Amino acid sequence: MSDDDVRKAVRRSYGRVAREERSCCDSGCSQEVPAEVAKTLLGYTDEQLAAIPDGANLGLGCGNPTALASLREGDVVLDLGAGAGIDCFLAAERVGKRGRVIGVDMTPEMIDRARENTERSGVGNVEFRLGEIEHLPVADASVDRVISNCVINLSPDKPQVFREAYRALRPGGEMLVSDIVLIADLPPEVRADADSVAGCITGAMRKEEYLAAIEAAGFERVEILTERPAGGIAKQESGACDSAKRSPRVRQPEPPEDVRQAARLIDSGKVDVFATSIHVRAVKSVAVSSIRA
Ligand SMILES: C[S@@+](CC[C@H](N)C(=O)[O-])C[C@H]1O[C@@H](n2cnc3c(N)ncnc32)[C@H](O)[C@@H]1O
Repeated sequence: MSDDDVRKAVRRSYGRVAREERSCCDSGCSQEVPAEVAKTLLGYTDEQLAAIPDGANLGLGCGNPTALASLREGDVVLDLGAGAGIDCFLAAERVGKRGRVIGVDMTPEMIDRARENTERSGVGNVEFRLGEIEHLPVADASVDRVISNCVINLSPDKPQVFREAYRALRPGGEMLVSDIVLIADLPPEVRADADSVAGCITGAMRKEEYLAAIEAAGFERVEILTERPAGGIAKQESGACDSAKRSPRVRQPEPPEDVRQAARLIDSGKVDVFATSIHVRAVKSVAVSSIRA
């Protein structure tokens, strides 16, 4: 499957999520993610949840990057795969009027949602740009902080995402991402299922390769700040990995036993066997004078 095919499948899946949420809001019902889930599983505080505009929390994250990122007044922050904007709005409050937040997402329906949320909430220092995180629509060395929440696992070219984040950051800047990584190999047949990639587990990279890719992009002081089993997130109705369950699946011939076993583990919520949810921090050295190729 080509990189473009993976992106198309992911875009289709999250476009559907954005549209479903919108039509529900239009009809007056509530799809808000239960506060308890957002607090206990993802790590948002009551204050943060109260500050998020209605409709921005679609329950698609796997952590809370703004809680750990060292955001300062006046910073320019870039959110990779911003979705409906949850972490952008939290970052916007932290960086204040002198700062700015740019959310990038490749799914037009998500960008529409995020822009509607911005307009409704009246937040003035956030903007959303349509684009791929492998080809970021921002200038070199133009942002102070890069954040991301449960997105890079969906990219078919994660090393390129880290190179782009590095390019976009000013020297001395910091990247703080929350993501799903693998701690055991999935059978290749499971990995090849495009709809499952959108579910956050099967497109994920081995943890050690993920950290090595960050370093290879030029980052220093790469460290895992938190790590916990990913199963709880996958099990949640509105969790990041639920979107795979919402995707219509093409009927396949009966898969081999190892694939069926992996699928059973994932379906039964035993994702912990394969995956963990991490927050990683990395910095771009102040000493950098030129951008790495
Ligand atoms: C699991 S959701 C997370 C959304 C948001 N970060 C949150 O926590 O609510 C993944 C988002 O990343 C976007 N995305 C996935 N792959 C992408 C890529 N290669 N380039 C840009 N956006 C991407 C999807 O459109 C979707 O909105």
